[in-house]
Amino acid sequence: MKNRIELYLGDITKLQVDAIVNAANNTLLGGGGVDGAIHRAAGPKLLEECRGLGGCETGEAKLTKGYNLPAKHVIHTVGPVWRGGNNREDELLRNAYRNSLKLAVENGIKTIAFPAISTGVYAFPLERATKIAIEEVQKFLSDNTSIEKVIFACYNEKAYECYKSLLDE
Ligand code: AR6
Repeated sequence: MKNRIELYLGDITKLQVDAIVNAANNTLLGGGGVDGAIHRAAGPKLLEECRGLGGCETGEAKLTKGYNLPAKHVIHTVGPVWRGGNNREDELLRNAYRNSLKLAVENGIKTIAFPAISTGVYAFPLERATKIAIEEVQKFLSDNTSIEKVIFACYNEKAYECYKSLLDE
């Protein structure tokens, strides 16, 4: 299990994996944060494909090609907006991780990288979100052998240290 989970400090768009996960919004038509970075790096064909997807419910996931990205695919998921913690935020964040992994397996994806979904613009507390991310990935990997590598892409030292200390526990 341990050697199937890796930490990476930096820009997720640089990773050469089967799929990177996008922390998108319900429209799937782009935005700021990691979503903006992925669309910039993938090029305009990504938006074109996204227009045909009809959006995405919170906690669900949809697959596209990676276009100009080194990653072959993008799995677009939508995390919850933090509204104090009593509005199904935890459950919806768990769903975002689980449904992304399910979609990966259905499409033969073996290596996948996640950003820290919902912890930017959507303001989900970092430590609480990180615990959920790690738990859901570990749970999934313990029941599945087709995924070889899950990378947690941390954009800054603070996120990296948070993941590292929770993974070491
Ligand atoms: N590589 C890896 N991680 C990144 C990158 C990057 N290039 N850029 C930012 N992050 P956010 P959310 C980290 O705001 O909270 C968009 O406008 C960032 O530091 O991208 O789920 C969408 O369209 C943070 O830890 O996503 C939605 O409207 C994490 O990615 C909304 O933001 C997530 O931050 C989604 O908000």
